[in-house]
Amino acid sequence: MKPPITSPLSRRSFLSTSTGALAGSAILSGVPLIGRAADNKTLKVALVGCGGRGSGAASQAISADPNVVLTAMGDVFSDRLEQSYQNLSKMHGDKVKVDPDHRFVGLDAIDKILATDIDVIILTTPPGFRPEHFEKSVNAGKHIFCEKPIATDAVGVRRFLAAAAESKKKGLGVQSGFCWRSHYAERETFKRIESGMIGEVRAAYGTYLGSTPWSKERKPEWTDLEYQLRNWIHMNWLSGDHLVEQAVHTVDKMLWAFGDAAPISCTGQGGRQQRVEDQFGNVFDHFTIVYEFPNAARGIIACRQQQGCASDVSDHILGTKGVVRQTSGRMNVIEAGTERWKFEGEKNDMYQTEHDEFFASIRAGKPFNFAEKLAHTTLVAIMGRMSAYTGQTVTWDQMLNSQENLQPQEALDFKMKLPIAPAPMPGRTKFV
Ligand SMILES: NC(=O)c1ccc[n+]([C@@H]2O[C@H](COP(=O)([O-])OP(=O)(O)OC[C@H]3O[C@@H](n4cnc5c(N)ncnc54)[C@H](O)[C@@H]3O)[C@@H](O)[C@H]2O)c1
Repeated sequence: MKPPITSPLSRRSFLSTSTGALAGSAILSGVPLIGRAADNKTLKVALVGCGGRGSGAASQAISADPNVVLTAMGDVFSDRLEQSYQNLSKMHGDKVKVDPDHRFVGLDAIDKILATDIDVIILTTPPGFRPEHFEKSVNAGKHIFCEKPIATDAVGVRRFLAAAAESKKKGLGVQSGFCWRSHYAERETFKRIESGMIGEVRAAYGTYLGSTPWSKERKPEWTDLEYQLRNWIHMNWLSGDHLVEQAVHTVDKMLWAFGDAAPISCTGQGGRQQRVEDQFGNVFDHFTIVYEFPNAARGIIACRQQQGCASDVSDHILGTKGVVRQTSGRMNVIEAGTERWKFEGEKNDMYQTEHDEFFASIRAGKPFNFAEKLAHTTLVAIMGRMSAYTGQTVTWDQMLNSQENLQPQEALDFKMKLPIAPAPMPGRTKFV
């Protein structure tokens, strides 16, 4: 039996630093001067998981600092790696110095990459692999850009958290893929919430209502594992389901509104109504979760991946003195009594800012570390999913001790038999 997740995820204060203070400076203070990139030393970056987000993150890392080069790449599939390599080479020329013997294909690509001489690693595979990849990267002493979410089950979150503690001891940098925390309009909005402009936050309602994203029909030559990896967003052991994989951004903004407090409990519902064909694996297509926070405050998340339905990605935050309305960062408005504030400041590319600030922190010898924050938001999203899967109210204390482990119990092998677990059924699926 694994030890329960303990103090870093306690209800009272998950983070000692409010994550509203995301501008590098507040976070940089007090971090040991380890990891200093002496003067303008070349920083060597590696990419693991060469898909859409990974290729974007590698490009942003290269652009973040004049002296960053990409020196290694890894993916389970050679076609994904080659496509990413070609695109990045076209965009960045000789800043992409990935020799053929530094392009690693297979499930052990991470190990081969970590055996090369690199300073920073970008982890952008499906999240089911993140706990293992993060742990290995920390053991190898690398700074890490880590996409969200960081796991798909509580056992994975626990493994990630143990490595997170180690990463702090080693003074490693961990930048988080919760990109809205790097969005200037969101930062300005949440700064005003933190300073009390809308009074005490009583409710936050966030939506991620969209259409069905891509899916892959099985090709006859694909083994069970290849099919699931190619179609990973629809396999809950790999993606965590779309509440955890995609709407986790909305969960993160809800938590930001509540000062990153942990919820007391949640009651959720969801199901699989429109996407029932095989290529949709075992994930749901809609969820609505109501989280209870201290002082009877509520956070409500609604997410949907169905075709032909209204789309909406927005956040509404209600306080005792006013309200916030924001729509995917395009509109940020606060109304509080007779006061009205609208974000009219500089617009930024949040993905680029993530890397600019991360590399600046490494250069300054004070790399910031958001590993615990990544774990916290991921666990809150998993808690919502577990409530919807089981049809039960789930408490934070239950979540901290959950033994749910969605990962295949055998070592992965492309020839293995790997049936897709049945989709959960509320009222019958048990909480573990
Ligand atoms: N922050 C954001 O806004 C944002 C946006 C998109 C995706 N993401 C996150 O980024 C991650 C990747 O998403 P994506 O859209 O790039 O997916 P993708 O399918 O385009 O890329 C994933 C890549 O990882 C590879 N891969 C799978 N298992 C691997 C393993 N064990 N070792 C090495 N490579 C492996 C796949 O072959 C694929 O090339 C996910 O966690 C996703 O949630 C974040």
